[in-house]
Amino acid sequence: MTIIVTGGAGFIGSNFIFYMLKQHPDDRIVCLDSLTYAGNLSTLAPVMDNPRFRFVKLDICDRPGVYQLFEEEHPDVIVNFAAESHVDRSIDNPEIFLQTNIIGTSVLMDACRKYGIQRYHQVSTDEVYGDLPLDRPDLFFHEDTPIHTSSPYSTSKASADLLVMAYHRTYGLPVTISRCSNNYGPYQFPEKLIPLMIANALSDKPLPVYGEGLNVRDWLYVEDHCKAIDLILQKGTVGEVYNIGGHNEMKNIDIVKLICEYLGKPESLITHVTDRKGHDMRYAIDPTKIHNELGWLPETMFKDGIRLTIQWYLDNKDWWENIVNGEYRNYYEKMYGNR
Ligand code: NAD
Ligand code: DAU
Repeated sequence: MTIIVTGGAGFIGSNFIFYMLKQHPDDRIVCLDSLTYAGNLSTLAPVMDNPRFRFVKLDICDRPGVYQLFEEEHPDVIVNFAAESHVDRSIDNPEIFLQTNIIGTSVLMDACRKYGIQRYHQVSTDEVYGDLPLDRPDLFFHEDTPIHTSSPYSTSKASADLLVMAYHRTYGLPVTISRCSNNYGPYQFPEKLIPLMIANALSDKPLPVYGEGLNVRDWLYVEDHCKAIDLILQKGTVGEVYNIGGHNEMKNIDIVKLICEYLGKPESLITHVTDRKGHDMRYAIDPTKIHNELGWLPETMFKDGIRLTIQWYLDNKDWWENIVNGEYRNYYEKMYGNR
């Protein structure tokens, strides 16, 4: 089988490529990625010479380029990770989010219609459901929870989900969608909470917690997300949405304190800064459907996953130092300078 993985030079896509090449020795993976600020070819260095792997630098919005790739590769499956993925950047400048996340998705699905495909899988997010109140721990996101978005990012992802379902109903495209909670693990770009706090703490820089830090996220180790997508590709029902999450809710402030503790850094580094606009309070996934129907359960406990992750950032300083010492400095100054 040939699988096109879009966005495979980013955080989750690269972890997915490593996972799939190991688990499916008969499959070929073609990574399609335009290498935005978030895409990093050095991440894929370990598989670049693998004969079952090909990297193609291409924008998912580039219709002729995408069609040409389909003609060359005759892919059986598409897994679409490619996206602008950072909420804060979407608040600063929404347009590219609409372009990549919505238009790019439509280009990929048009290619699937034109050339035929066994499965198109859309990697979506729990953010499409909006947020839950902190004082109702009994509430969770289910697959039929109404879409109710907050940020330009989540709105662009929800729009893409609606489009994917429309292509299924109208054209019979064999699609599946997964909506996952917050991932953490190796190769996550240091603009996101956990790697940003690890990188800043290691450099003894302030740890910028938005507001009081009471917002809750449901953290999942990235490999568990990859396993869930693999299962959906193998056993999932076409036309269905699957929520993915590990019942691992934590307040931001507790995560940051834990990172300080593990790294032996003082909590005095924690700095409360102006809150994110429209900041979602709590995300919490009910993963009953994927558990009952496909037998998925998260395998990495947070206490183990966070240690593995911190150790990875300690062992791979070059990877993230190259990022934080480059163009990222301008982003950081703009985003945090006067906060
Ligand atoms: P990321 O920002 O680390 O990586 C995105 C990748 O997509 C990069 O390699 C980038 O170069 C590529 N890309 C961006 N625009 C492109 C374009 N127009 N054409 C081709 N490639 C392009 O993102 P991530 O955190 O790995 O997230 C991957 C997917 O998973 C996204 O769709 C995101 O919405 C979804 N998701 C992420 C999380 C999370 O916690 N990170 C949770 C749930 C769902
Ligand atoms: O829930 C899934 C989503 O998780 C994905 O769809 C997104 O692509 C991914 O970026 C992530 O979105 P969040 O906004 O939840 O992640 P982020 O790491 O940006 O922030 C996590 C929490 O930490 C959030 O409440 C904001 C807070 N935060 C974040 C940053 C970057 C801070 O307090 N300080 C910070 O500097």
